[in-house]
Amino acid sequence: MKWWQKTIAYELYPKSFMDTRSQGTGTIEGIIEKLDYLASLGIGAVWITPMYRSPMVDNGYDIADYTSVDPSYGTIDDMKRLIEEAKKRNIRIVLDLVFNHSSDKHPWFLESKKSKDNPKADWYIWRDAKEDGSAPTNWRGIFGGSAWTWCEERQQYYLHTFASQQPDLNWAEPAVRRALYDAANFWVNLGVGGFRIDAITYVRKPDVFEDGTPDGDDGMISVHDMTANQPGILDYLHEFKKEVSEGHDIFTVAEANGVSADELKYWVGENGAFDMLFEFSHTNLEFKGIETWCRPEPWEISDLKRALRNSQEATKDNGWYPAFFENHDRPRCVNHYFPENADHKAAAKAMGMLMMSLRGTPFLYQGQELGMENVAWPSIDCYNDISSYGQYEFALSEGFSKEEALACVHAFSRDSARTPMQWDDSENAGFTEGKPWLPVNENYRTLNVKAESIDPDSVLSWFRKLAEIRNEHPVLMDGSWNELMADDPDLIAYERKNDNETVTVIINLSEKEREYDPSLTEGKEILLVSGDAFKHGNLHGLQCVMVTDK
Ligand code: GLC
Repeated sequence: MKWWQKTIAYELYPKSFMDTRSQGTGTIEGIIEKLDYLASLGIGAVWITPMYRSPMVDNGYDIADYTSVDPSYGTIDDMKRLIEEAKKRNIRIVLDLVFNHSSDKHPWFLESKKSKDNPKADWYIWRDAKEDGSAPTNWRGIFGGSAWTWCEERQQYYLHTFASQQPDLNWAEPAVRRALYDAANFWVNLGVGGFRIDAITYVRKPDVFEDGTPDGDDGMISVHDMTANQPGILDYLHEFKKEVSEGHDIFTVAEANGVSADELKYWVGENGAFDMLFEFSHTNLEFKGIETWCRPEPWEISDLKRALRNSQEATKDNGWYPAFFENHDRPRCVNHYFPENADHKAAAKAMGMLMMSLRGTPFLYQGQELGMENVAWPSIDCYNDISSYGQYEFALSEGFSKEEALACVHAFSRDSARTPMQWDDSENAGFTEGKPWLPVNENYRTLNVKAESIDPDSVLSWFRKLAEIRNEHPVLMDGSWNELMADDPDLIAYERKNDNETVTVIINLSEKEREYDPSLTEGKEILLVSGDAFKHGNLHGLQCVMVTDK
């Protein structure tokens, strides 16, 4: 097995992790300061979301220079020190490659927009207006509004899958791909342990750009439906592999939704372009296609089970599964998967056991190890997240009231995952001595690293135990995954099995008391069980148990 298949990864949102300069936003130095904390969680790879120079319209996902560090975070020397200090603790630093688009302040775009015949004229996607002056197509950007913005200087429109400040790079232009590979290799040479590759399914554009049938009252159709996963995309991705990752002891995990099971082998694994894919079937249960916050559909535990089963089965022979329930774009999992009045601590533990015992590499998201929760601020103006604004406006355009539109933001805003890390119960949760860029979640007084570290029953202690168990029972890394009670509507259960050992996991995701065949756990050593009391054959609401036959 490769090192990254055996490790636990941690996604870190640098703006909200640790501020060492009283500026209200996190710093690289702050990450270095907390490396021992990460090591104490058994983490072996830290994926840091973009820390490159950026106007921060989308908090770093709008990059103005791929080989420098945003001054608010620190310097290249800080990054070198971080990579080195992390290595001393057996942690590899993993960076985020945002290659579908750059910032509109990137020198490449500033050049490209000057004229139709400048040397970088074709580095972005430019098109003439329709005869009436309107946008070339009726595509809606992922963050709302048209996916096209008019450029006065060049007298053309440019395409942006996301915000207008994030113009899409033209991968059909070989010099663009070369420049991007060079940027990635700059970091490989500094010793990073891998890459998470952003929004990769959009890099190949369709040969013909045409209007689609509108999917909303705004007369537009999501750009996703018109441009994602185009034929020919794999040629680019395999070129990326050859030019960047091949031959290095690094891993790649691509953000890629909608890759079909029969295509998967070209995407991941030995002959695929990447090592792992982040797909969202299990986190977007309420959205059948596009993520439209005001149109969530009901879902059941059996839907979650099906999504997990499908990806466990799909990655049995193709690539490797990155197990996650939270990231910087998703609500906190205790709020997302469970009712408002459920026991969220029990829920955090249940989801933790699930994530840490599926076959794959767990990707823990900053604060999840504390059981951090969503925020619900009183007005849209309190929010920072650019997509919250787009979704709010869309909901209003679909006839929802302001209160209803805000409720959608409360449920799905990306800011809930981005509030500052809760280190202790001092002001601003110990994250900053300045004014935090996003308000700290009010629950920080009880829910923080310091308090949870000394509480053996805390979510943090639970994650530490899970990490220890994973280390002591390699079957959790290399064992097969065999589902049990597939038809049960509430219990998710499976065994992990290798030649030496079988570990059985049973998790009650419902709030109801549930029975199971007691022989599944009886006579076996209990590795971990949540809740106050445990009786073989019975799990109270949200209780979970893990046993071994060894
Ligand atoms: C990805 C990122 C998200 C970002 C978007 C545009 O989906 O995860 O945070 O806004 O790409 O780069």
